[in-house]
Amino acid sequence: MRSSWKLTGSSAVGSVAGFAQGLHPVANVFKPLASPAQSIYNVSMLMLAICAAIFFVVGGLLLFTIIRFRQHETPDNREPAQVYGSNRIEIAWTVIPILIVTVLSMATARAVVEVRNKRMPPNALQVTVIGHQWWWEFRYPTLGIITANELHVPVSTTAMPTHTVLQLESVDVAHSFWVPQLAGKVDVIPGVTNTMWFDPRESGTFLGNCAEYCGTQHANMLIRVIVEPAAEFERWAAAQKLGAAPDASPETARMMFLSLNCINCHTVNGTLAQGTFGPNLTHLMSRTTLGSGVIANTRENLRAWIKDPQAVKPGNLMPNLQLNSRELDDVVNYLSSLK
Ligand code: CUA
Repeated sequence: MRSSWKLTGSSAVGSVAGFAQGLHPVANVFKPLASPAQSIYNVSMLMLAICAAIFFVVGGLLLFTIIRFRQHETPDNREPAQVYGSNRIEIAWTVIPILIVTVLSMATARAVVEVRNKRMPPNALQVTVIGHQWWWEFRYPTLGIITANELHVPVSTTAMPTHTVLQLESVDVAHSFWVPQLAGKVDVIPGVTNTMWFDPRESGTFLGNCAEYCGTQHANMLIRVIVEPAAEFERWAAAQKLGAAPDASPETARMMFLSLNCINCHTVNGTLAQGTFGPNLTHLMSRTTLGSGVIANTRENLRAWIKDPQAVKPGNLMPNLQLNSRELDDVVNYLSSLK
């Protein structure tokens, strides 16, 4: 886990002073912002309260005993009263923990059932999440959109409750999808389709992680969920549905990109590039980060990434194509035009 779990953030896009331009905001786990996260939070608070009570009772008795029965300055050499066993006390310290554990398991079971069995309205937004080493693919089957690493969903309001349902799949190893402020962890397993849902009640960017060790770059398999008002989400979806910007870049740059091996792994809708091994690049410039959240999506970073992906994210599966600086310029020019 990265350093993002300090419990000091004031909101999802916490106040991280400038580190990588706020690429790793602090997620405040004490501020749940969707129903599943709220259920988990409620159980955690109950657990914390009961455990704190136990701590203070046990600690208090211990402290009392230490003080009350400490050695006195004028020891009388008599042995204290020797007490062996007490049925009443033994029954009490057997029954009380059983009651406590029962209450905790019932509360947990209730929260699990509440989240798992929640009926989704038919108009819920459907997204297929596909785990890759080491990035996330997001497909919106009903909208015909394929994107990566940044999941856009509409906010849920009391006037218009909006649910997002995720189907989680993996093409390689086991991953786990976790955005703490929205919902609990759900494993992403090859050959299995798991589901989860959330109804985010605030707009903003929510950071998540892969929560199951999946290889070298497990820690850099970051998730960004961008929650936006319905109108903004519609605008985003409409733009994503379009093909690649046709003539925004010089023809030479486009031809250069399409002549390179990039197209074996990446798709740019409406072009020869139809590879599916790496992220879909049709609207690359609409994303804020590169390499699954590792660096900000700027022109310089994009160039550095293509020049030597292994220097930026060692072990990742994008090869170094050894491009010369002209090829590099052309590819960066072309990709920068994919708004
Ligand atoms: Cu994917 Cu850890």
